[in-house]
Amino acid sequence: MIKVGIIGGGQLGQMLGYAGQAIDIECVFLDPSDNPPAQTVGRVIRCAFDDTVGLQELVSSVDVLTYEFENVPVGPVESVTADIKLYPPPDALRYAQDRLTEKQLFQELNIPIAAFRTVDCEADLAVAADEIGLPLVLKTRRLGYAGKGQIVIRDRDSLADAWDMLGSSPLIAEEMIAFDVEASAIGARNVAGEIVSYPLTRNEHQEGILRTSRAPFGNAELTRLAQTYHARLVDRLDYVGVLSLELFVVGNKLLANEFAPRVHNSGHWTIDGAVTSQFENHLRAVSNMPLADPSAIGYVAMENLIGSLPVGMQAIRDAGFFVHEYGKAERPGRKLGHVTVVADNDTDCELRLQELRQIMFT
Ligand SMILES: Nc1ncnc2c1ncn2[C@@H]1O[C@H](COP(=O)(O)OP(=O)(O)O)[C@@H](O)[C@H]1O
Ligand SMILES: [Mg+2]
Repeated sequence: MIKVGIIGGGQLGQMLGYAGQAIDIECVFLDPSDNPPAQTVGRVIRCAFDDTVGLQELVSSVDVLTYEFENVPVGPVESVTADIKLYPPPDALRYAQDRLTEKQLFQELNIPIAAFRTVDCEADLAVAADEIGLPLVLKTRRLGYAGKGQIVIRDRDSLADAWDMLGSSPLIAEEMIAFDVEASAIGARNVAGEIVSYPLTRNEHQEGILRTSRAPFGNAELTRLAQTYHARLVDRLDYVGVLSLELFVVGNKLLANEFAPRVHNSGHWTIDGAVTSQFENHLRAVSNMPLADPSAIGYVAMENLIGSLPVGMQAIRDAGFFVHEYGKAERPGRKLGHVTVVADNDTDCELRLQELRQIMFT
């Protein structure tokens, strides 16, 4: 049996663990929190992510090391991985941890992005507003997630306030894109350089948090373009594992927003709605196994359960939806679970999604 060490024991770790059980891969986790979701599926070494003693214990218990969140402290992790493979490669983490290096990588690869400027002082912000125009999205370069660490600036009077709120960290100011929809290209690359791509996924966010994903997107041309950008990125990084590329769709163009060097919330639909889930393909990739079929088995929608669980959880189960609960305490804005709808056609998928929302919100 192959043993995979996973830095992080959140819901992504938990879902990797369940996927491993089906293909005879055992996952061991490292996480400092009291009740990490992954504890339901494997041993969790409880320590800080930069605790080299704990990391060493993890390394000596497994055959290969991976991670399930992108703010992994690269230095401490690299210090214990001389004798073990760490996948995805740490370079992918370095690029993804700073929005500036991430954008520079997109530019190097001729992947279109929104106009942006670095903002290191208040004057830089005024220049960005002059040169790019308003509205602007001001973002911290590091540690932003689920819309945190960013502000939309709509008029010049708000520039000073925005600077006061975020100016203590290095920033990026981006053109605000009036996109048609958001999408994500999710795919895996293995040690041999083989790539599988999931159908393009359409995403809806509310307050910066992913709420709903739907797949397949149903536009062959955009899907091909997204897969081309994704392949450029994973080949350049000599990547191993699942990578998710977030995109803005504007007409027949795609602008890259950011990438996550890990399995991604917008790929949760693949558990119930694809032949092989993103979690299984991630484990296959990092374990030097052949990748498996990423095709959708129908028309799929995934709805996140955010903040608090619906009163009608049992009714949702009884109505035949695929329900996933992560075992986390309720807190505003927190992802507590998700529900998947699988149907034979687009129309039925929408109807079932409406039915689900009816139960959720009444
Ligand atoms: N330049 C932009 N133009 C329009 N919307 C944006 C822009 N940047 C971010 N957003 C919106 O905010 C969401 C979260 O921003 P993102 O850069 O993906 O940060 P996070 O790391 O929080 O996911 C995006 O999915 C999108 O809905
Ligand atoms: Mg994002």
